[in-house]
Amino acid sequence: MLDIPASERIIVALDCDHGRAVELAGLLKGRATWLKVGMTLYYASGPAIVEYLKDLGFKVFLDLKLHDIPHQVRGAAESASLTGADLLSVHSLGGADMVRAAREGVQAAALERGVRTKLVAITVLTSMDAESLAQVGIERPVGEEVASLAGLSHEAGVDGVVCSPREAAAMRSALGPKALVVTPGVRPAGSEVADQRRIATPAEAVAAGASHIVVGRPITQSDDPAAAFSAIAHQVEASPRPGA
Ligand code: C5P
Repeated sequence: MLDIPASERIIVALDCDHGRAVELAGLLKGRATWLKVGMTLYYASGPAIVEYLKDLGFKVFLDLKLHDIPHQVRGAAESASLTGADLLSVHSLGGADMVRAAREGVQAAALERGVRTKLVAITVLTSMDAESLAQVGIERPVGEEVASLAGLSHEAGVDGVVCSPREAAAMRSALGPKALVVTPGVRPAGSEVADQRRIATPAEAVAAGASHIVVGRPITQSDDPAAAFSAIAHQVEASPRPGA
């Protein structure tokens, strides 16, 4: 199992506008290691936001969830890596050729500028459950769908997967001790669930084998984001580590 300090396992999702992202980065500097830039912030602020956060000393997960034809995804992954992002996401549902194209794009950026962006594959969104999967024609159990998509992406050469905490243990044993297993859908006990479905607490997610947990609104919408971050880090610190 990767030996990572608790505070470096938490990726704070900045799903907000530019001004608030800058404010949150200031509040979290010195405590958080990772920030996540998703579509909301990236489409508003562009690649400059990644550079800004990197200059402040953060690691950046650029969660653009690439999903298009392989040619487009290769180019998108290259451009995204050239921002200097440390981690980039691609949708497994685009198929093995598309995930391989994303890996090629990341490698092209590495050759061009020496940036080494790691790639993680989204399996099934944590906002989806059996019912919403059935609505789009996927009838098999969520766990089976996640395992199948993770296997496809792993063979295509990703560094890890994004799944819900409920599938983290299965992913850890299928992908081995070094794989990144990133789990959104994390909610400290008592906090708002909102649109998430397949959730667990931070401690449960890490105990199950998550290398990193993504936490957005429980931190960013709290009255004291820095204190909310530290409380979650303490919960993770106290959680038992899996033997894997
Ligand atoms: O606010 P909250 O903690 O629900 O934010 C979760 C974050 O994780 C969001 O930025 C969302 O885009 C992301 N995410 C997710 N499910 C996935 C992949 C990413 O919720 N499978």
